[in-house]
Amino acid sequence: MNKPLLFEPLQLRSLELRHRGWVSPMCQYSCDANGAPGVPNDWHLVHLGSLATGGAALIVAEATAVNPDGRISPRDTGLWNDAQIAGWRRVTDFVHAQSNGAKIAVQIAHAGRKASTCPPFAEESGYVPVEQGGWQTLGPTDAAFGDGPAPLAMSEDDINEVIGDFAAAAGRAVAAGFDALEIHGAHGYLLSSFLSAQVNTRSDAWGGSDENRMRLPLAVIDAMRREMPDSMPLLLRISATDWHDVEGDLLRSIEFAKRAKEHGVDLIDVSSGGNVPQAPLRPGPGYQTQLAARIRAAVELPVGTVGMITDGRQAELILRTGQADGVLIGRAALADPRWWQRAAHQLGHDLPWVPQYQWPRPQNTY
Ligand SMILES: Cc1cc2nc3c(=O)[nH]c(=O)nc-3n(C[C@H](O)[C@H](O)[C@H](O)COP(=O)(O)O)c2cc1C
Repeated sequence: MNKPLLFEPLQLRSLELRHRGWVSPMCQYSCDANGAPGVPNDWHLVHLGSLATGGAALIVAEATAVNPDGRISPRDTGLWNDAQIAGWRRVTDFVHAQSNGAKIAVQIAHAGRKASTCPPFAEESGYVPVEQGGWQTLGPTDAAFGDGPAPLAMSEDDINEVIGDFAAAAGRAVAAGFDALEIHGAHGYLLSSFLSAQVNTRSDAWGGSDENRMRLPLAVIDAMRREMPDSMPLLLRISATDWHDVEGDLLRSIEFAKRAKEHGVDLIDVSSGGNVPQAPLRPGPGYQTQLAARIRAAVELPVGTVGMITDGRQAELILRTGQADGVLIGRAALADPRWWQRAAHQLGHDLPWVPQYQWPRPQNTY
């Protein structure tokens, strides 16, 4: 077989990714419970460091909040102060010094009406009440997600403040040494909820039409771009559909991706769901690749795909059939932080190990 497409490099602006197998952003809900909020710690260093030494070309670090109210849980990472820059700097320095060429991005996020929840592995579940350290959530309107608490419908000032917070977080992420940034525009969190016709029923300039529903995410792209060097790529994760009106959602997502490109986005990371509590969907292997393929066919922009991609041959098939330009691996990478070495072995490719793990060995031994 020719060199696997999975192990071909990909150029995004000035950033060369050594191949097309990446780590999907995954919240760890692991900032110290009683320490400074939002500061990444030893857990984040070891977790992300092990993925970087396992052969991933790009690691997208977890949804990281632009302000305290934007956290999904009280233990999320953030980028609203200098202590957080220093915490992240440890991680980016490690990746750059120790991983044989891995690059690291961070997903910049605001959880909107789905903020202030208990970490999934906490003793309690659901939303954290305000009297126990939770906070008033914000959304496009005061409609709750499922049976959660009602968010506050954001005012014009609230919206402008959040745009400023995304920009400031981008500046801090650059200072922290990240190679690329990703905007979290998926899964029903703030930007995704503004994009959704089901959720965003505002009638002012920020809702009421497809054009107006795109206004906040596009303003965030512009504001972040101003804080980033031109050489640095900006990725955007979207929910291409909420699975009730797949074709309608896809057409809107294609239009949004085109606009995002005009505003300076370099890659669309195609996910789905999250705006409505129950989606009519039974996830299975590669269940979102057809969404990525539709967007890739319609928009001249590299596209990433994610969702139950667990095997190197499956990843290679996705790339060879033109469905995406890169694959993001989530849970399979938690199960096996050397997933990319395993994939290389399956595809007969020699992916260099970090020097500590390299020893005289027969070619391609996993
Ligand atoms: C523990 C965990 C945390 C996650 N956190 C995030 C996140 O911070 N941002 C995001 O966009 N998606 C998040 N996701 C979704 C994943 O990035 C990915 O899209 C999803 O798990 C499907 O891919 P997989 O089947 O390879 O796991 C998370 C998933 C898991 C399992």
